[in-house]
This record gives sequence, structure tokens and C-alpha cells, in this order.
Amino acid sequence: MTRRVTVLGSTGSVGTSTLDILGHAQAGGEGVEIIALTANDNAAALAEQALKWRPGVAVIRREDRHEELKSRLAGSGIETAAGEAAVVEAAGRPADWVMSAIVGVAGLRPTLAAARTGATIALANKESIVCAGPLLLGVVKAAGGDLVPVDSEHSAIFQSLGGLSARKAAKLVLTSSGGPFRTWTRQQMSGVTPEQAVSHPNFSMGAKISVDSAQMMNKGLEIIEAAYLFDTPETRIEVLVHPQQIIHSMVEMLDGSSIAQLGPPDMRGPIVCAWSWPERLSWPAPPLDLAAIGSLTFHAPNTEQFPALGLARESLRIGGGAPAAMNAANEAAVAAFLDRRIGFLEIAAIVSETLETMGRSGELKSIEALEAAFAVHERALEVAGHLIEGARAGRVKAKGG
Ligand SMILES: NC(=O)c1ccc[n+]([C@@H]2O[C@H](COP(=O)([O-])OP(=O)(O)OC[C@H]3O[C@@H](n4cnc5c(N)ncnc54)[C@H](OP(=O)(O)O)[C@@H]3O)[C@@H](O)[C@H]2O)c1
Repeated sequence: MTRRVTVLGSTGSVGTSTLDILGHAQAGGEGVEIIALTANDNAAALAEQALKWRPGVAVIRREDRHEELKSRLAGSGIETAAGEAAVVEAAGRPADWVMSAIVGVAGLRPTLAAARTGATIALANKESIVCAGPLLLGVVKAAGGDLVPVDSEHSAIFQSLGGLSARKAAKLVLTSSGGPFRTWTRQQMSGVTPEQAVSHPNFSMGAKISVDSAQMMNKGLEIIEAAYLFDTPETRIEVLVHPQQIIHSMVEMLDGSSIAQLGPPDMRGPIVCAWSWPERLSWPAPPLDLAAIGSLTFHAPNTEQFPALGLARESLRIGGGAPAAMNAANEAAVAAFLDRRIGFLEIAAIVSETLETMGRSGELKSIEALEAAFAVHERALEVAGHLIEGARAGRVKAKGG
């Protein structure tokens, strides 16, 4: 059987790993027809992928890159398109399996468009579910599709549950590497540069998720993702620091038995799982040599050192638009940090103040429609933007004085 496949965010870290796996599946005799590949601005990489995979359409979000894409694909007969609406249109073309690997809330509309077709959604884009989890899951259900998590922790929980409802679990335990600053003091972290923050100890990932991981906001987003995906209150979701990242997460059942999923720290593992689910595909993963690893260690996270974990729990407790606001403020603050406009520790401070400001003015009400989720997102970007400018002014003044 040939499966029709779309890869949203095909030029990114998860997107390129996905195409690797599709290539392996094809070499093993599986039929793969690429419906659409999409990127933001990397026309060169998208064109190279398109020439190899011959998709129905190759879409670049930035319209000013369309000419470059067209000229690179000239004479190939491959359809091209550009712009945000074109990404959504391509995502909504009939497909059997869609990898959602755009970074940030920019992935939400395309993921929803794909979900409406009833395709199986392999979800890497955690910001979509954080911003509009109940809406997205509702669309998947209404269209009769499936959603398979790709985030390694959620894939581990999904695999550990083995089809059981998470209601049968006493606890979901999300493991975390602790990030590159696990052993640093707050004072040491105050001088972290973007270069230091993007170098993750075990995974090579996109810049935004690397910074999220370094401040443990990634784990905060994952608490929210787990709460929505597995319909579990945050009080039953625990975080455990496990620097070796061999146990990708686990489930403690009501009978006291814990079931964990283990594997080498390689994102291709959960992507293969999402591709082959409900079967298991053979994949040449490096063997898991526990004897060579010797010991696995664990400790509780330091929530004072990493306030992002508490912020995520608080936003779930507030409910309504709070997770969407938290996510938007974080996107704005991470971008400002990567641009060297604010310091590393200011990211969580800006997220916290955004939640407080919007909470005080009653702007975190429940989200019943997509437009309400985007309204909260936009408003949080605005509030965080003011706070970022304020933080910059404060720093410039402090330096000047
Ligand atoms: N990397 C990991 O190990 C990992 C693990 C778990 C979950 N995730 C999640 O998976 C998602 C992707 O992560 P990543 O590390 O693969 O990110 P990445 O390397 O930065 O790739 C992002 C992809 O999205 C495209 N893109 C960026 N902005 C866009 C926009 N506004 N509209 C349309 N497309 C856009 C990029 O295109 P260009 O190449 O043209 O910029 C690229 O194809 C994130 O939500 C992340 O949290 C990643």
C-alpha cells in the first residue's frame, strides 16, 4: 500500500529526520507518495528535497523566497507556492500521514488543516497543542483521524500505556536531561549567551527548542502537552531529571508497577514509532548498550533554579487562555534572547509577568474557538513585547548609569 505523506517543516531538524526515515521505509519496499513539503525561508534546502521526493507541491512561507524556489525547480514540473495561506492549503490536501514539524504557533493552522482531513497526525509541533490542545484534539476526533505524539517523552508515555487510558495511571513521569545548565547557579546562568544555550548535551535540535530546553521551559511545555494529550491533571504529571536520557519517560500504573520506554537519545526513534504505529518498523538504530552505559541516574528538578516548570503548572491551574499566553510570551522572549535583546534569565521573568498582567486584566478567559486562541496569542505577544522593551530600557539605563 502506498501512503500519501505531507511533511510540514520538512527542512528543520525533525523534518529532515522524517525524510530520512521515509527514505529508509521506501528502500524497505514501503510505498511513499509525498503530497507536500513546506518550509519557512530555506528555499535551497526545500528545492533539494523536492527534487529528490517529487512532492505534489513545495511551499515556502516567505513570499520573497518564492522566486528563488521557482528558479531552483525550473523545468522540474513540480508545483510551487508561497505564503502562509499556501502552507495551510498544502497541509489540507488529502494525505494519510502528516508530520507536523513547523516550529512555534505558526504550526497551528496547518496542523488543524491536516487534522480536518482525517489524516494521522504525527505531532512534533508541541506549541500547537499547548496553545489550543482541546480544539486540536476535538478536530482530530471529529474527523475520525489519529494523533500520534512525536515529542520523545510523549511518545514514550504513549508506548508505555500501550493503548490503555491514562486514567489507569497513577502518574505520568516526564524525564528531562536537565539541559546544559543543570548544575549552574542562577548567577552563572545570568551570563548565558545564545551560543551556549543552543548547544544541547544529547540532541541536535532547532534553536528555539534548544533555548526552551536550556531553561526547562521545554519541560514546562511538555507538562501542558501531556495534560492535554493524555487528559491528565498536572498534579499527576511529574518531572524527573535523568541526564543520560535513556529512559524517555514512564508511567506509574495504579497497581504500583512502572512501565518505561528506553532507547538511545535520537529523535528518529519516536519518528519511526509514529510512522509505523500501530506496527513496528525495523530501523537500524544504534543498539542500546546498557552495560556500556553502566548507570542511570535521576533526581528531582530544582524549581527555583528553573521557574519555567512552575509557570507551566500555574498556567494549567489557571486554565482557559493561560497556556496559550505562556507559550506566546515564551516565543517572544526566546526570539528576543536569540537576538541578544534580553538576557537568559529574563525569558522566564517576561513569561511570568505576561501571565500576571493578563490575569489581572481578565484576559485569560476560556478558549472556545480558534480565533480566541489566536487573540490570546497575539495579545500575549504584545504584552511580552512591551515587557521586553522595558527590560532593554532598564538594562541600557543600568549600564549607562
Ligand atoms: N528537534 C527536536 O529534537 C524536537 C524534539 C521534540 C519536539 N520538537 C518540536 O518539533 C518542532 C520542530 O522543531 P525543530 O527542532 O525541527 O525546529 P527547526 O529545526 O527550527 O525547524 C522548523 C521547521 O519549520 C519551518 N518554519 C519555521 N517557521 C515557520 C513558519 N512561520 N511557517 C512555516 N514554517 C516555518 C522551518 O523552515 P526553514 O528551514 O525554512 O526555516 C523548518 O522547516 C518544534 O515545535 C519543536 O518543539 C523538536
